[in-house]
Amino acid sequence: MKRTSVFGLSLAVCIALSSCGGKKETTATQEDYGTPEATEAAPQTSASEIIAQGESLVKASDCKTCHHPTNKIIGPAHTEVAKKYEFTAANVKMLADKIIKGGSGNWGEIPMTAHPDISEADAEKMARYVLSLDGEKEH
Ligand code: HEC
Repeated sequence: MKRTSVFGLSLAVCIALSSCGGKKETTATQEDYGTPEATEAAPQTSASEIIAQGESLVKASDCKTCHHPTNKIIGPAHTEVAKKYEFTAANVKMLADKIIKGGSGNWGEIPMTAHPDISEADAEKMARYVLSLDGEKEH
């Protein structure tokens, strides 16, 4: 009878202190590793696809009125623009802004017209296409 009560007491203390050990629940599950499909679900648009989209946008816009890929018309040949600037993210942004806002001074006195209807994202694709024309890759 005494034994039982000592056992009962030690069990009660053990539960109260939660210090018996050996019963820890670990909850790592196989699902945490994800499936191969999940990691491939959102492919990044490749650099060459963005440049191809930029080319289509330039061809669909009024750019060709003033720009030719290799000849100066009213504006500089886009290949000359590519040679003048390094293909960096900063220059993509700078040329995209110029496409949207227009302006003069970098090539002469004739201003480029503003293109307020072109989104920043589309203007950046156009700038990437222009900057790719000398064969340089973005860096
Ligand atoms: C009305 C004529 C005209 C049209 C239309 C035009 N451009 Fe231009 N563009 C110019 C001129 C002129 C310049 C040179 C501006 C300068 O000297 O800073 C220029 C410069 C540029 C430059 C170089 C900017 C710089 O600061 O060096 C890029 C890039 C460019 N144009 C892209 C485009 C794109 C893309 C389009 C179509 C959305 C377009 N242009 C439409 C006349 C035009």
